Amino acid sequence: MAGLVFPPRLALSQTPTPLQPLDRLSRQLGGPRIWVKRDDLTECAASGNKIRKLEYTLAAALADGCDTLITSGGVQSNHCRATALLGARLGLKVHLILRDEGDYQNPPVGNLLLDYLAGAEVSLYPRQQYVAEHQQLVAEWRASYVRQGRKPWVIPVGASDGYGVWGYIGCIRELEADIAAAAIHPGLIVHATGSGGTQAGLTLGARLFNIGCPVLGIAVCDSEQWFRDKVWADIQHWRQLSGSRDGVEKTDIRVNDRYIGPGYGVASEEVFATIREVAALEGLLLDPVYSGKAFHGLVSEIRAGNLTSAADVIFVHTGGLFGLLAQGEQLGFSRGPR
Ligand SMILES: Cc1ncc(COP(=O)(O)O)c(C=O)c1O
Repeated sequence: MAGLVFPPRLALSQTPTPLQPLDRLSRQLGGPRIWVKRDDLTECAASGNKIRKLEYTLAAALADGCDTLITSGGVQSNHCRATALLGARLGLKVHLILRDEGDYQNPPVGNLLLDYLAGAEVSLYPRQQYVAEHQQLVAEWRASYVRQGRKPWVIPVGASDGYGVWGYIGCIRELEADIAAAAIHPGLIVHATGSGGTQAGLTLGARLFNIGCPVLGIAVCDSEQWFRDKVWADIQHWRQLSGSRDGVEKTDIRVNDRYIGPGYGVASEEVFATIREVAALEGLLLDPVYSGKAFHGLVSEIRAGNLTSAADVIFVHTGGLFGLLAQGEQLGFSRGPR
């Protein structure tokens, strides 16, 4: 798109990521051809969607002279794991403020294991305290680093703000080229939405690059209204920081909140069945917290006949492999192969 000037970015990811069709699954479902934008391949351990956002967030933090990163999330936060690893790669101290929903495992597994390996300092709070005191906890840790003579930079949950949003505008710029190379006409772009920043970037990008189809976030927590407000707030922050014009309206923010299931981080047996099916049929790994829930939503909508007008749909695979590895028992493999 002419005239759009991206801000400084640290080149930390392995991008562009491929766009690949899932032909066996698409044939089996008898609906549109499903394409996967493989953002689960953006790096090795720092993989997933967060690295695209952090490339911009961390560029701004370094330009500000930051030497310490503070961020927050669940015990199995992919965002915190990516921040821990990228902070180590850049020589920054990382402090993670984590919410224990009763899913803390000792010895640590999945994302938390990698947080520790990357040398991050971890402060763990029970859910109730985290929810009630989150802002205060962040402010206290921040002040304690300032007292030590350090320069902390606080990254919001999921790096979802006006800095991180650039990452998924950049992903749409890639998708524009992917779509042209594959000579397809997608009717919908679908992805998992959790803290809103990916959706804000994709929604803005689709408008800025005239992709010609809507973006649908499938919620893994919270309500449709919550996401509309949060995505809109991230878009406003991006507008404020970038001074760019886009033309996105609040009604362009499309959310489906019917696939959350029992709650954040907890998947239904149907989601686990989809994860097993896609792994065995296509060799593609999805996780029960984000990508698996959203993909299950997409498959369910196709099965219900709600996507018949689209010839192609694109699923943005936002990663989450380490969260999958933390739920082996829930996947049904606790007593060996099924
Ligand atoms: C694997 C994965 N997919 C999707 C999301 C949702 O992205 P966002 O927080 O930008 O809505 C997250 C993070 O929350 C994630 O870790």
